[in-house]
Amino acid sequence: MNLGFALGHLMAQAANTASWWKPIQASAHASSVDSLFNFIMYLCFFFFVLIIGAMIYFVVKYRRKEGVPIKTSPIKGNHTLEIVWSVIPGILLVIMFAWGFKDWLAIAVVPANAMEVRVTGQKWNWTFTYPKEGIVSPDLVVPAGQTIKLVMTSKDVLHSFYIPDFRIKRDVVPGRYSVLWFDPAEEATHQIFCTEYCGTSHSNMLSKVKVLSSEKYEQWIANGGEEEGGAGGKPIPLAEKGKKLYESRGCVACHSVDGTAKVGPSWKGAYGTAHKFADGSSLASTDENYIRESILVPGAKVVAGYPNVMPSYQGQLNDKQIESIIEYIKSLK
Ligand code: CUA
Repeated sequence: MNLGFALGHLMAQAANTASWWKPIQASAHASSVDSLFNFIMYLCFFFFVLIIGAMIYFVVKYRRKEGVPIKTSPIKGNHTLEIVWSVIPGILLVIMFAWGFKDWLAIAVVPANAMEVRVTGQKWNWTFTYPKEGIVSPDLVVPAGQTIKLVMTSKDVLHSFYIPDFRIKRDVVPGRYSVLWFDPAEEATHQIFCTEYCGTSHSNMLSKVKVLSSEKYEQWIANGGEEEGGAGGKPIPLAEKGKKLYESRGCVACHSVDGTAKVGPSWKGAYGTAHKFADGSSLASTDENYIRESILVPGAKVVAGYPNVMPSYQGQLNDKQIESIIEYIKSLK
């Protein structure tokens, strides 16, 4: 077990910092999940070395040699050995199950004092809704020290909500709600992934958890969830705001801004130019109304040559945000 201990020490050191090994531990779930993970992994190391070592030893020891007969006397079985190699793995499996079940219960049962945030997954972004305040946000903004309950559902296909730093992950399913909870301890930003393959831009279905101090969180709520202004608190030009929304609300997954075609048409030159649509109709010059309609009712006018796959942003972007995106598209000549 010397090797195991040396490795264990190295990995325990690595676990405390973000590194090639495990992500940082940023929730109460993290250390218990990691302990079980380590237990199973070291157990596997131990038996791997034991079994492969024994195999190599026997291969060398009983290799064919001059003057030694090829045939051995028949072996009829060994009850002691069979009981040992059944009972010991049996006990280890029961330990893994009991330990895992205990941790699973702790993650599945949400504490009563939790603050609720609604999570909506759709191709290919996450939206977070704060039911009491009526705020809709592209990032999960939470106050440090407050237990958070996530009530999650999907608008289209199966997604999976995963925050590695918190060691929580759960499928997000259309037509039903699934629940997760965590307790962010410190002010920090953590990555959110989708871990269920959900189509072309699955790997771009990213968001952030922003853990703020309770004062900063109150301020964020008071601002209606909008990010604070630019440097020195100056208001940001609409086009710049639109660019931020483009990056944070999932538009970037399907629309380029440099003219290359992705899942959807590029935004470069999308304003004020002629467009042909899949149903044979056309527009001589696209305007604000066309862009607004394409955001809210994407299927109304699908550009010829592209699939009708864009989800509606109805209820997810307010008028000001839609205007910002229009201004951004206008700036991409
Ligand atoms: Cu959503 Cu992968």
